[in-house]
Amino acid sequence: MARIAIIGPGAIGGFVAAWLDQTRSHEVIVCGRRAIPSLEIESPAGNLSFQPKVHLSADAIGPVDFVLIATKAYAVAETAAWLPPLVTGKTTVAVLQNGVEHRERFAPYLPIEQILPVIVQIAAERHESGQICHRGAAKLTVPDWPIGREFTHLFRQTPIEAIAAPDFINLLWRKLCGNAPGILNALLLQPTRIMHDGNIAELTRAIARECVAVGRAEGAVFDPDVVEAVLRGCRNAHPESINSMHADRLAGRPMEVDERNGVIVRLGQKHGIATPYNQMAVALLATMMRYPQPVSAGCLPK
Ligand SMILES: NC(=O)c1ccc[n+]([C@@H]2O[C@H](COP(=O)([O-])OP(=O)(O)OC[C@H]3O[C@@H](n4cnc5c(N)ncnc54)[C@H](OP(=O)(O)O)[C@@H]3O)[C@@H](O)[C@H]2O)c1
Repeated sequence: MARIAIIGPGAIGGFVAAWLDQTRSHEVIVCGRRAIPSLEIESPAGNLSFQPKVHLSADAIGPVDFVLIATKAYAVAETAAWLPPLVTGKTTVAVLQNGVEHRERFAPYLPIEQILPVIVQIAAERHESGQICHRGAAKLTVPDWPIGREFTHLFRQTPIEAIAAPDFINLLWRKLCGNAPGILNALLLQPTRIMHDGNIAELTRAIARECVAVGRAEGAVFDPDVVEAVLRGCRNAHPESINSMHADRLAGRPMEVDERNGVIVRLGQKHGIATPYNQMAVALLATMMRYPQPVSAGCLPK
């Protein structure tokens, strides 16, 4: 039986915690910012009800075998504050977040060899009521390292497919290529159907092309038709679906802009690769957040 602490009982953390808990093979410890009476999972894999005891501090928990981090990728310092009492030299800290910098994010707080990056392919959202709605498959992919293989074993009795992939870096960057154009929806406040507009399709290609170029410089290998595959993937989603960056902007929450697009610009600069489309999208979104009120035309003062 493994002791597993899950930090961030939101859509992903709540979903994973509920399925791990129902195995009765692990001690599942939920770490959050507020009490949650019940999590109600609705999933193609089945419905599940989970009444977690949410720990609001790490004081009474003690060391664990695994920490699963499922907060948003920008909440690094607050998340890291949980770690010292939970982590020993034998603890694996799995980072279930978007982007490509899972290890870099937590390297200031932990020995790098204990940090396990995880690609999350679980489309889920958590509502205030505690309901977690999940659509499609549920897949977690980790590098094919010894700690990665141990992590996959945790999910044996769950419907979550956990895979240790030798070509992890390729999959990591391929996921980023699919996520990066989502900034267009957040800018335009338009759901997926906007990807069928010819101009937006061109911008989607351009953003993905830059991501591919930077990913290649970082060592990732892509299929030759990856850019068109990204556009097809965007267009195949439900026309009314709203990606998380778009949803976060609508809700007035911070967005994972740096982790999904800023990183392409930053790593592009490191490799001398121009990334003007991502750069412009990041700058426009940041400026819109600083000046949220539209200014209408008027007479200048005399
Ligand atoms: N949801 C998806 O479909 C999906 C798919 C693929 C990848 N991802 C990635 O997975 C990661 C998690 O996303 P999510 O959708 O699960 O986000 P989420 O629903 O917003 O959940 C984040 C959770 O973290 C909690 N939290 C924030 N700060 C905390 C702290 N200091 N201590 C403890 N808990 C804290 C939040 O608490 P409150 O409830 O109090 O806000 C919330 O419960 C992100 O990187 C996201 O991009 C998500």
